[in-house]
Amino acid sequence: KTIAVIRGGKSKEREVSLKTGKAILAALKKQGFQTIDLDPANDDLYQALSAEKIDVAFIALHGRFGEDGTIQGLLELKGIPYTGSGVLASSLAMDKVTSKRLFKQIEVTTPQFISVSKKDFKEEDEQLKSDIRKELKLPVVIKPALEGSSIGLSIVEEEEKLIDSIENAFKYDREVLIEEYIPGREITVGLLGDEDPMVLPIIEIMPQEGVYDFEAKYTKGMTKFDVPANLNEQVYNQAQQLALQAHQVLKCSGVSRVDLRVTPQGKPYVLEVNTIPGMTETSLLPQAAAAIGIDFQELVVRILKLALN
Ligand code: DAL
Ligand code: MG
Repeated sequence: KTIAVIRGGKSKEREVSLKTGKAILAALKKQGFQTIDLDPANDDLYQALSAEKIDVAFIALHGRFGEDGTIQGLLELKGIPYTGSGVLASSLAMDKVTSKRLFKQIEVTTPQFISVSKKDFKEEDEQLKSDIRKELKLPVVIKPALEGSSIGLSIVEEEEKLIDSIENAFKYDREVLIEEYIPGREITVGLLGDEDPMVLPIIEIMPQEGVYDFEAKYTKGMTKFDVPANLNEQVYNQAQQLALQAHQVLKCSGVSRVDLRVTPQGKPYVLEVNTIPGMTETSLLPQAAAAIGIDFQELVVRILKLALN
């Protein structure tokens, strides 16, 4: 079979995607697949997908113009099967505000939040500040609605820094999410499959200093990981259950990775779902799979096979 690996792209996570794609290309070649390496930033994707005989597309893009349903739509039009979630799930998961509304609807615990759009945002917005004080309390986490890898994210402890942080997040998107900060531990849960996916062991993420930001995510040694996470059984099961519900409510398929935080009292909160989790050397999903004996090559092949379901 011929597999087109689509990587790179135009998002802020381009460099991460190139690495994810490189690892996937290597794994597929080792398994004897023919591969075509495509980058939507350089190649005319529509033409390339028409010119070549492609059996499956392996989408290794992160962030906008790739993880968000756009490339998925193009592949639907071309009739080419592809890895991971479909158009709807991809775009729902990319939008953190819409995802959280759906989580709330099925009572998947997620931090309290307010969203603000660029058009409604005014620097002197006393109403917004008072809503944040009343509904969320400081510290809060500020994120662009549509980004990954903690791009544009800040944790705000003092009210004076609120506006600057919101404005910074607006550099990346027209909508900003202001979320209650959940103290405690950071964990992530990988899922493999469609409606009834396999739930992988939980990984605890332990940044060696500060927060798990872009640098800590992609610099070797800056973060330590514990798989399976050392949580009490009830909390562990509950976190896996929430991750499963989050994957299902967004209608994800193939693969996903759900990020959560757990309070010191043991209450898990779902932050977001990543429909194309990183597959670089320091990435989480491959570590979770390895913990139950699924090595990187097998993981890639499983994701590929799920695309043909
Ligand atoms: N957005 C990055 C690639 C991840 O979630 O792994
Ligand atoms: Mg993400």
